[in-house]
Amino acid sequence: MDAKAPRAATSRYHEVYAQWQRDPEGFWAEAAREIDWFEPFKKVFDPSMGVYGRWFAGGVLNTCYNALDRHVIGGRGGQAALIYDSPVTGAQASFSYDEMLFEVATLAAILQDFGVGKGDRVIIYMPLVPEAVFAMLACARIGAVHSVVFGGFAAKELAKRIDDAKPKLILSASCGIEPGRIVKYKPLLDEAVAMAEFKPSACIVLQRPQEQAKLDEGRDHDWAALRDAAIAARKSADCVPVLATDPLYILYTSGTTGIPKGVVRDNGGHAVALKWSMKNLYGVDPGEVWWCGSDIGWVVGHSYIVYGPLIHGATSIMYEGKPVGTPDAGAYWRVISQHGAVAFFTAPTAFRAIKKEDPDAKLLPKYDLSKFRTLFLAGERADPPTVEWAEQKLNKPVVDHWWQTETGWCIAGNPVGLGMLPVKHGSATVPMPGWDIRVVDESCREVPNGTIGSIVAKLPMPPGAFPTLWQQDERFREAYLDEFPGYYKTADAGFRDEDGYVHVMGRTDDIINVAGHRLSTGGMEEVLAAHPDVAECAVIGMADSLKGEVPCGFVVMKAGVTRDAAAIEKEIVALVRERIGPVAAFKLAITVPRLPKTRSGKILRGTMKKIADGESWTMPATIEDPKVLEEIGEAVKGRGG
Ligand code: COA
Ligand code: AMP
Repeated sequence: MDAKAPRAATSRYHEVYAQWQRDPEGFWAEAAREIDWFEPFKKVFDPSMGVYGRWFAGGVLNTCYNALDRHVIGGRGGQAALIYDSPVTGAQASFSYDEMLFEVATLAAILQDFGVGKGDRVIIYMPLVPEAVFAMLACARIGAVHSVVFGGFAAKELAKRIDDAKPKLILSASCGIEPGRIVKYKPLLDEAVAMAEFKPSACIVLQRPQEQAKLDEGRDHDWAALRDAAIAARKSADCVPVLATDPLYILYTSGTTGIPKGVVRDNGGHAVALKWSMKNLYGVDPGEVWWCGSDIGWVVGHSYIVYGPLIHGATSIMYEGKPVGTPDAGAYWRVISQHGAVAFFTAPTAFRAIKKEDPDAKLLPKYDLSKFRTLFLAGERADPPTVEWAEQKLNKPVVDHWWQTETGWCIAGNPVGLGMLPVKHGSATVPMPGWDIRVVDESCREVPNGTIGSIVAKLPMPPGAFPTLWQQDERFREAYLDEFPGYYKTADAGFRDEDGYVHVMGRTDDIINVAGHRLSTGGMEEVLAAHPDVAECAVIGMADSLKGEVPCGFVVMKAGVTRDAAAIEKEIVALVRERIGPVAAFKLAITVPRLPKTRSGKILRGTMKKIADGESWTMPATIEDPKVLEEIGEAVKGRGG
């Protein structure tokens, strides 16, 4: 199928993809030569291990060694590893590979003093500051398993992750900074620890100048004081060898219920895949400056703020700011130009924000972008108007690429390093080596080109993709493998075109994508249903010109509730913010007399979404009472629908 993709005379994609198809193990064994192993793997892929097999079985390595030590040994010690650029605080800093190694080895020794060892979990609940990256690498250095929790989540979400991961230690900070407001982390942390059944033995808190958190004498420790003491005592931890198949991190992502899924990433496959991607997909060389404008709370931040660029020996920019308002819509151009980034990776929503504020890109000519080569977009569907705008204004290639928390790196993209294929707006281009992508119907039969179906990937998934969910093999099987035997269910719907290009159109489950953030409407419904006046509810993702989608909750009040509907709606909005967090961007609850249902009682969320989006819709044949849809139409009028 992939052989049909349009041929660009200069692209090696077809040759490389065919090489992988002919000999998948040989392909990844070759890629693994780019990683430093303490002991070679015994099998490239062992189908008898784990749920569907494991990559690089028996291999011994350390991810932190590959990200830092080997570059220092190889002569990159003086090169910047991390550039911290924070318009929200006015701070800027640069850490060389030498300096990073020092910080990480010191922090790793501190973690060891707290009894953290191989396999122990550590939760990192931090804003986008260099210490958060040191923390991730320090865990990797001593074989501990980190789990980063995004700062925009509320205490309850953090508590769920504490109970699932059972961390020995939590690393946090006094605050995060959102434009116009300081987000105090410590009260959220305290509330989460109080709420969780599992109690970590200690918390290490980084006091930021913007906010001094009150430390609990027994449990909390001051980050800077521990660092000073460790340096004075010349403490430094060596790399602990781990198996390629040992977990490096757990990253929780939205599932179809309020219980997040603990996506597990291993050490070996992850290092091999990310290293391969930096050159072949992103076209970046070691020593070059790369910028990924995400947050370390998301998979994109894990892979391409931290591990990918560092394992590659590149310089990674970490940006604590927004595309607009910090201070203006020229912020991204400023960062690219000031630090000499050759490539930049962000979510389409960020470009929609810039386009809205500065439609003619008047701020762009102020900056020298001569070193800049490529813009990469992912996290949500890249809408063609936004891609066209970015291409025109930047006069550089804009590459949409598709991936998920579960996959850890790109499933389909346009491989810049192998030579770009022709761009088709609205398509993520072609599968990367390792991904055998099929579009199928409910019976797992392939559908013709151009027909929308479920997108699945033939097992095994490539190195870097998740081997399982944290201590939940059965949930992993049920959620991802059982529906289409022999395949990984991406839960995305889309089609292949006549050239083999992949077009990803939307989810097949209840996940919505809000400003590039993945959220479960099922999780939000659980919160709405918990309001004492609510009898029934349904949450849908409503089209939004900036964020792609925003949640909208329809609620039916319990019989006998006489309180003002507007007041109850306000309480519901506040409840979602309190229970899930501001990141849910839940601002709209609408009271309706009843919900549209099929005769078997299924809520017709798809039709409600079409009504809310103002799209044409057809009356479902199985509807219980057609009048209800008229009521929904009436209710959304003037409410953003
Ligand atoms: N800590 C605490 N709160 C956070 C947060 C964090 N780390 N990140 C976001 N929030 C808050 C925001 O302040 C906002 O709060 P509000 O309701 O009080 O305004 C809320 O969560 C929703 O955030 P968001 O959906 O991001 O909306 P926004 O209006 O603040 O910003 C964009 C919109 C488009 C500018 C922003 O989403 C963005 O820069 N996105 C592109 C990069 C990205 O995040 N990519 C995702 C992974 S690739
Ligand atoms: P996350 O796990 O948060 O990275 O979100 C993954 C989901 O975002 C995918 O399952 C898709 O629904 C969506 N997504 C990510 N990248 C793209 C893309 N390039 N095109 C379309 N959808 C995307």
